[in-house]
Amino acid sequence: MSWFSRLEGQLKVEDVLLSSVAEKYGTPCYVYSRSGCETGYNEYKKALEWCPGGGRVCYAVKANSNLSILSLLADLGSGFEIVSVGELERVLAAGGEGQKVVFCGVCKEEHEIRRALEVGIFCFNVESEKELELIQKVAESMKKVAPISLRVNPDIDPQTHPYISTGLKENKFGIESKKAVSVYQKAAVLPNVKIVGIACHIGSQILTMEPLLEAFDCITGLVQELKDLGITINHIDIGGGLGVRYSDDENPPSPSEYLSRIKSKLLEQSRDIPDIIVQPGRSIVAPAGVLVTRVNFIKETSNKSFAIIDASMTDLLRPSLYGAYHKIEPVDYDENKTEIECDVVGPVCESGDFIGKKRRLRIIDGDLIVVYGAGAYGHCMSSNYNSRNRPAEVLVDGNKMNLVRRRETIRDQLQLELTEFNSQ
Ligand code: LLP
Repeated sequence: MSWFSRLEGQLKVEDVLLSSVAEKYGTPCYVYSRSGCETGYNEYKKALEWCPGGGRVCYAVKANSNLSILSLLADLGSGFEIVSVGELERVLAAGGEGQKVVFCGVCKEEHEIRRALEVGIFCFNVESEKELELIQKVAESMKKVAPISLRVNPDIDPQTHPYISTGLKENKFGIESKKAVSVYQKAAVLPNVKIVGIACHIGSQILTMEPLLEAFDCITGLVQELKDLGITINHIDIGGGLGVRYSDDENPPSPSEYLSRIKSKLLEQSRDIPDIIVQPGRSIVAPAGVLVTRVNFIKETSNKSFAIIDASMTDLLRPSLYGAYHKIEPVDYDENKTEIECDVVGPVCESGDFIGKKRRLRIIDGDLIVVYGAGAYGHCMSSNYNSRNRPAEVLVDGNKMNLVRRRETIRDQLQLELTEFNSQ
């Protein structure tokens, strides 16, 4: 993570001291590195260079949907994976091209399909027969042809947290692989639908390549079956899911290791190589972002110590929701401070409100701490629970800090609600 470094114990992001970001914009605050995001994207782009069609990186907007992040990725030429019309509007507002969008998700609504057809998206990844029928109906009413892939559920265990496994038969996602061919045959005769590809996404924070490669074998097997039936697949969308290193004992494969295995498999199997689409989210942005928060005070009990910080589960939900580990350090390291073991907790009224447990930190009241790996599924999963304001977001570029989302205010929260209502 070269974009985070220490200068005499003080943590910098690119050329900016994190303490100066906190001073200017307050805490809690998400801070992203522009070069971190760019590096994440470029690794995938480079790892796909061998693809005859050039390959496509469709960044998963859900991982971090801040407009400035989308805009910098759009400038690099990125495509986008979306799961709602809200994400589509974000992509467009950030200057992304509708024609580079892949639309996923188990239930696209009629108005969402219509908007996606209006902007001419690249592909709908269809997750059920009923959705296929709805897409046909909407496209027909607009006198358009919708490009589609079927998202196949290969029933493979990605060996990750059960809440983020998506390719097992008990999961709601995709079309069972044994039914895929018949649904393709059905799609092939629909007049307002055009088959362009096949898709698969088996989960997130995947740390070993085997399940991903097994899923790929299932997909290429189907591509062959379809070919024999006269159905041509132009691209294989292998989804996202590559994990990142939240803790030192995690060693996820790199995009280049993963994609070179995909390349070898394709070369072994066939001469007509379809284009490859990837939909990474976490592995592009997680390492490029941190959450900076202040220790309000350290509370000692006869049982343990708590570092009570000004961030909580409402700002970073992953530890509470998945028991996820995020590395925590003081922003400014001072070895003269005594190391304490503490649970790092927020002020929310839930015992599940923690960011870290049993952490050994050299901190005292008032210190700033940093939570790493917060660039993905951080701010975008924040909430107003306990009527807390969502934090600010800052994008650092070299020696410049840019406020890319201001901190919410209580007024922002109140203005959506009414004190009077009509009960008729
Ligand atoms: N494509 C599809 C269809 C997806 O459902 C997802 C993530 C991605 C791509 C991107 O996957 P990634 O490369 O980021 O692993 N909130 C959870 C993660 C949920 C992931 C949902 N789908 C977390 O904080 O771990």
